[in-house]
Amino acid sequence: MSTPVPALAVTSPLMWYSSRATGTVTLLLLTATVVLGILTATRTGPAAVPRFAVSDLHRRISLLAMCFLAVHILTAVLDTFVPVGLAAAVVPFTSHYSPFFIGVGAIAFDLLLAVVGTSLLRDHLPANAWRGVHWLVYASFPVAIVHTVGVGTDLKFGWMQVVTGACLAAVLVAVGWRLWASPHAGGATTARPSTRGPARPPTRAPAQPSTRGPARPPTPVRPVPSHRHPVGPGEVR
Ligand code: HEM
Repeated sequence: MSTPVPALAVTSPLMWYSSRATGTVTLLLLTATVVLGILTATRTGPAAVPRFAVSDLHRRISLLAMCFLAVHILTAVLDTFVPVGLAAAVVPFTSHYSPFFIGVGAIAFDLLLAVVGTSLLRDHLPANAWRGVHWLVYASFPVAIVHTVGVGTDLKFGWMQVVTGACLAAVLVAVGWRLWASPHAGGATTARPSTRGPARPPTRAPAQPSTRGPARPPTPVRPVPSHRHPVGPGEVR
C-alpha cells in the first residue's frame, strides 16, 4: 500500500531543515510550557515577576508550541523524502517511515491536542475534568522525548544532545519541585493554601444581651468566591 502524496509535496533541503528546526523549537517550547505550568500551580517564581504574568506566559507559550508543532508536522508530511502521511500524524503507528517513533510523536500530538482543546473550553468544563485532561501533559513530554531520540537526525550532534538533555533535566527538576511543594496535590488550584494565609470561616461572636435597645438582625455572610485558577489576571502577590 502506498502513502497518499499531498499535491504540494516536495523533496527539498528547505523542507527537511524546516521540519528539523521546528521539531527542536517545539521541544523547547513544550519544556517551557511544562515548567511555567508547574511554577503557576506551585505559585513559585522570581519575586519581581507577578504571578499572573507567569500564568499568562504559560498559556501563550503553549499556543506558540502548537503553532510550531503544526509547521513541524506539515513540513514532515510535505517532504516526500520521508513517506509520512497526514493521517499518520494523528493515528499512531500508521506511518510507513519509522512507524514506532513517528507513532509516539502522534501520541504526543494527540495528548497535546486534548490538553489545549480542553483549556480553550475550560470555562464550559467541570474543574476536575479540565485538570484530569491537563495532567496528560506529564505523559506527552516523555513520549515527545522518545520520538525525538528515535527519529531525530540532529541527535548525532553534541548541541542537540545538550538541548534534549537540558529539556529533560528542566522538566525532571520542575516535576520534583511540584511533588515536593505539594505532595498531596489533587490539584494545587484548590488544595494549596493561599500565601496570604488559610481561608478562615467567618467568625461570629456569641450573641450578647444588649443594653442599648433591641438586637439587630444578623448581617448576612457573603459567600467566598471559589477561585478556579491559582492566579487571576490582575492579582499580584
Ligand atoms: C509533541 C509532538 C512532537 C514533538 C515535540 C516533536 C519534536 C521533534 C524533534 C525534536 C525532532 C528531531 C529533530 C532533529 O533532530 O532533526 C523531530 C523529528 C521528526 N518528527 Fe517530530 N515531534 C512531534 C510530533 C511529530 C509528529 C506527530 C510527526 C508526524 C508527522 C513528526 C514527524 C517527525 C519527523 C518525520 C522527524 C524526523 C526529521 C528528521 O529527518 O530529522 N513529529 N520531532
